[in-house]
Formats: sequence, C-alpha cells, structure tokens
Amino acid sequence: MVKPADRIQQLPPYLFAEIDKKIREKQSQGVDVIKLGIGDPDMNPPSFVVDSMKEEAGKEKNQGYPPGYGVEEFKEAVAGYYLQRYGVELDPFNEVLTLIGSKEGIAHISFSFTDPGDINLVPDPGYPVYGIGTLFAGGESYIMPLRSENNYLPRLDEIPETVAHKAKLLFLNYPNNPTGAVVTKEYLKEVVDFAKKYDLLICHDAAYSELAFDGYKPLSLLEVEGAKEVSIEFNSLSKTFNMTGWRIGYAVGASYAVEVLGRFKTNIDSGLFNAIQQVGVAALNHPKRDAFIRELQSIYQERRDVVVENLRKMGWPLDPPLGSFYVWAPIPSGFTSQEFVTKLLEETGVVVTPGRGFGEHGEGYFRIALTVGVPRLEEAMERLRGAIRYK
Ligand code: MLT
Repeated sequence: MVKPADRIQQLPPYLFAEIDKKIREKQSQGVDVIKLGIGDPDMNPPSFVVDSMKEEAGKEKNQGYPPGYGVEEFKEAVAGYYLQRYGVELDPFNEVLTLIGSKEGIAHISFSFTDPGDINLVPDPGYPVYGIGTLFAGGESYIMPLRSENNYLPRLDEIPETVAHKAKLLFLNYPNNPTGAVVTKEYLKEVVDFAKKYDLLICHDAAYSELAFDGYKPLSLLEVEGAKEVSIEFNSLSKTFNMTGWRIGYAVGASYAVEVLGRFKTNIDSGLFNAIQQVGVAALNHPKRDAFIRELQSIYQERRDVVVENLRKMGWPLDPPLGSFYVWAPIPSGFTSQEFVTKLLEETGVVVTPGRGFGEHGEGYFRIALTVGVPRLEEAMERLRGAIRYK
C-alpha cells in the first residue's frame, strides 16, 4: 500500500464527513435523527431554477467543455447582480470567475498565492476550509480569534507587525459561519486599510449574503471604497437558492487575483457544466428572485426565533443572530463541546456541530443549523428540554 502524502496525514478528518458517519450509524440503529449539523438547506431551489435546468441540460451548445474562466452570460449576470444589490461595478471579463462552488475557490486561493512558509490570517472559529487550504499549500495559519466580546470580529491590533508583514491572505466571513455575526462598513474599511498597509489579499467569504434577519442587509466587502484593489470575494448560489448540490459559485474582485486563481483552476479542473451556469443566469436575473429571497429570509427568521426562544426558556443566554442560518450557543458547564454534542446525539437523536470543529476558539460552543422546518425544530427543542438544562 502506498503511504499517503504527509499533507493528507496532517489533515484532521473533515468535520461534516465525520458527523455524517455518526448520523448514518444512529439511523441504522433505528434512531429518528434530527439533523441540525451541516448547513444544507432542506428546501428545493425555486421552480424557475429547476425549470431552467430542464431546458438547458439538453441544449447542444451546453455540452462540451465550458470556458476556463466561466460562461460570459453567467459572469455578466453576477456583475449585474452586484450592481443592483450593492451598487458595485464589476468588469465581467476581468473581475468575475466561475467556481465549482465557493468552497472550491476558497480552497484553491491558497494554492494560488501561498508558498510554503507563508502565513495566512485565519478567523477562529471559522469555516474549516480556510485553514485546510492553507495547510495543503504548505502555509501556516495565524489564528485570529473571534470572541463574543468583540462581536466576533478579529482584533486587527492584536496581530503582531512581524506576522502582518509576512502574511499573504486574510480570510474573513460575514454574515459569519458559525457565529451568525454581522459586520459594519466601518469595520470593513479598517480591514481594507490594514490590507493596504501590509500588502495582503482579503478573501471574503460571502456565502450567507442573502440570509439576514430583522431588516439587516449584509454588505459586500467591495462596497468599501478602494476594497476591490486588495480583495477577492467568494459567493455561491448554494444558500441563496437552496442549490448546495449544484456546485455553482463565483469569485469577484481584484482582477489580478481573479486571473491568478483562474490560471490555477484552468490547470486542474475543466470548469462547471455550461447548463448549470445558464441556470445561474436564470436565477440571478429572474424577476421573482427578490421575492424568493425575502420568503427564504422569513422562513429562516421564524426558525431562528423558535430556537432562540426555546433555548432562552431553558436558561441559555442568547441574542438572536442577525445573519447566516446558524444559532451559536454556549455549552453548559461541565462538558467539552464534543462531549456535549455526543450526549445530545446519544440521548436525544439531535445532531448539532461541536464548536471545536470550527477551531480552538469554538470550544465552549455548539452550532445549530436551522435546516429543518418549525415542527421538527420544536421537536428537537422538546427533546433537548427532556435531556439538558443550561447551567
Ligand atoms: C457548514 O455547515 O458549515 C456549511 O454548510 C459547509 C459548506 O457550506 O460547505
């Protein structure tokens, strides 16, 4: 048997693959598992997406290899959406790149910019792929803790000068996974100034840009003046249109970064099925787009309220998150986050994600994904009430 590469051996098991294994185990024992683990929407894409796929899949022009940097119509649709939604102008040819889901671009941005020994600035808790991409590229993650007392924003003044000078990429993600935190334009401006000072590329993961509550409207990093020169922003249709399995995402921002990431990608993948990119055009340009998004927001807001109200009644100190579709809650004393979620699964059949899975600063928390309907969420809360009290 051939020994796997060191980089594979260093790799922790992928968080959601591990959770998936446990779910299957429980289900095979006949347990009625309620899955609040991975952030995978339980609802269908809108009918205008599905109908468009039925039309596009069979068209002759959509067969064969897609253009390396993406289908022009899709990139134009992304640019049009940025203009409408954020007032940000993008050149579809040089500042937009199609991705096979934003995870793909987030993983590959480190391969495109980070040499062995380079530093990337990585928020913790955070989506595991920022650190994993860094590790695969041979770089080192410098952890930026996200703490509740700082509204889950990295403290830039805590980053030592020597680290900032050595760093290449700075990862950021708002609305935030896993904490649900959101960001102000003033804070984003500080990050842009920091990136300019230390010659960094900000990699903003905006996957939850349309999932926000109580009237909050998420920002694009590119709304900050001058941000485009030092930033690349990742987004996808996964969470906005319930299309996680379709793997359609994009990167926008500094033309040099888009070009370098595209150069990397064209050497290792052959792009995203033309038909799916045409579906992306239909999704982003559809007259019912905004109504669909508003409906989605109200569904998640109701789910959020059910969870937050129930947890509060059980003693949890919680503020309702303004963004994402996650509730980030502290662990009762006496457990690690892993012990707590294991107890929950064993005693109640409810699956949540241990905060430690998002990094060392996630310890002491667990994450609930609002990816089942209200009756099922109420049942999960009922099961919790029977098993655990917050203390
Ligand atoms: C999560 O649960 O954190 C996300 O669904 C993972 C992903 O988007 O890849």
